[in-house]
Amino acid sequence: MTINEIRQKYLLFMEKRGHSIIPSSSLVPEGDATTLFTSAGMQPMMPYLLGQKHPLGTRLVDSQKCFRSGDIDEIGDNRHTTFFEMLGNWSLGDYFKDKQLEWFFTFLTKKDEGLGLDPKKLFITVFGGGSGVGKDIESIAIWQDLFKKVGLTAKEGERIFAYQSNKNWWSRAGVPENMPPGEPGGPDSEVFFDFGENRLLHEKSPFKNEKCHPNCECGRFLEIGNSVFMQYIKNEDGSLVELPRKNIDFGGGLTRLEAVTNSEPDMFKISSLYPLIQEIEKISGKSYSDVINQPSMRVIADHLTAATFLIKDGVFPTNKAQGYVLRRLLRRAAVKMYFLTGNLEILEKMAPISSLVCQFYSPIYFEIKKDIPVIFETIRVEIKKFGFSLDKGIKELQKNPHIDGKTAFDLYQNYGFPIEITTEILSQMDIKIDTNQFETEFEKHKELSRTASVGMFKGGLEDNSKTVTAYHTVTHLLHSALRQILGNHIGQKGSNLTAQRLRFDFSHPEKLTDGELLQVEELINKTIAEKQAVTREEMPKEKAIKEGAMAFFGQKYPDIVSVYTIGNKNNPFSKEICGGPHVTNTEELAKIKIVKQESLGAGTRRLYLQFV
Ligand code: SER
Repeated sequence: MTINEIRQKYLLFMEKRGHSIIPSSSLVPEGDATTLFTSAGMQPMMPYLLGQKHPLGTRLVDSQKCFRSGDIDEIGDNRHTTFFEMLGNWSLGDYFKDKQLEWFFTFLTKKDEGLGLDPKKLFITVFGGGSGVGKDIESIAIWQDLFKKVGLTAKEGERIFAYQSNKNWWSRAGVPENMPPGEPGGPDSEVFFDFGENRLLHEKSPFKNEKCHPNCECGRFLEIGNSVFMQYIKNEDGSLVELPRKNIDFGGGLTRLEAVTNSEPDMFKISSLYPLIQEIEKISGKSYSDVINQPSMRVIADHLTAATFLIKDGVFPTNKAQGYVLRRLLRRAAVKMYFLTGNLEILEKMAPISSLVCQFYSPIYFEIKKDIPVIFETIRVEIKKFGFSLDKGIKELQKNPHIDGKTAFDLYQNYGFPIEITTEILSQMDIKIDTNQFETEFEKHKELSRTASVGMFKGGLEDNSKTVTAYHTVTHLLHSALRQILGNHIGQKGSNLTAQRLRFDFSHPEKLTDGELLQVEELINKTIAEKQAVTREEMPKEKAIKEGAMAFFGQKYPDIVSVYTIGNKNNPFSKEICGGPHVTNTEELAKIKIVKQESLGAGTRRLYLQFV
């Protein structure tokens, strides 16, 4: 079974059990300044998990695109990827533990409706208790019953294992102690697949002195799904209280499910990634079966997949935030290709790999004709630019076999080498440097790039959310104001909100004049001063579009959508399909100012707005 088949089977399985299928959200969260990327299926579901009514009901199912930038350095083994799809089913105060565990077990083990895995190969973990919450004996009993029905005795310590909150508690912030007030979370139960004794890598792994168990990292067991019983919320006083509605948040790695269905522990041999590995073999003339080549080839395949999806979702290579991460992915892939082959010209052949990604995932995520050229060109240009720097940088390094730390660091500044890449190059060329000096510079930089890539979590989930919501409403005002002043060719290409500012990308062929900027600003401020109501309605997608609601270009919407209208319903200032949240009246907004304008090339412009 390929991932396309498994995705389809799962969606239908849950649809048959009363779930509405919803499309994946963007990899770049909208209206959420707390994270750069969507890294779990539950992220876009947050408003609904916290109580907002979902237009499609209380049972939902999806396959969500996810990107985990924190995993970049782990790529190279047989199981980690930065991009993946997470299958998810959601109960918004509807069913709870018994149905959830039964359905997932049925999906895993039944051949006709599901994957037909051998139940003997499945191992279970549950929450062992802590932070004032008891051990999850309920789940243990449910699991024992399910295994009994297939003729297996599931004893604790043999098939079912209880762990503490560092393993079997889920919230966006991790263990209960790290959850900020207002954050939901709960115990979870994970299912692991056992690749078996014959593949027992344990003896060769760094864990050989420990007893092997599902959460051991030796490679024998692979986690394939996590049922979160989201039943608590963190109180202001630090305690956990029960949520009025108990939710289920289930997440399962699609790639991993294909791997276990085919008893293939190497994720890079599955349907979406193996064609890329084969193409890389062809381009480089190197063989994947030679283990020495595997880490580099895996990095190239993973990073180009992630880059392809990020560009599709509106990210451009830049030096900041999402753009910086994309740049780092592309440059790292290029460096790996260079070291795999020793040939700089070969970098030119990398961009076409992205077309294989588009082809594999079309028509769900890509429109071949429209997307391939844009993604191809973005990758080609970025890798080409970097190729020149790489060439110069390598020559520089070859001239100086005893390079000092400062010079090594300067490579970053002079040739645009992200420092992580410089470190990798240096170790691969076996060049000794003055580590102290290098470390100082490196630490300084690491701090900077950390804030750029993951440091946006801020712990400010609740503090900033009001301002971010306000900026979100301004996004709609801006989108509409731009169309009214510059014309209806304006389409939103992306947006990003923090508590400090709003960033908005849109299609427009030329620089806005000062006069135009002023007009846009004045129109928005006038609407804010007019105290216009912001209202939300649910309606069928077709109706919304017929009524002229603006939709995000290229985005897939469910059949029933929520629509936000600003101003008089009969002649609104703005009407957009959007998940929210928003303020309820523009009087809640401060006056705004356009503080910066940038060009992103290819007919796309970027504006920054702030409240004054
Ligand atoms: N939120 C859980 C996870 O990401 C399950 O969806 O693992």
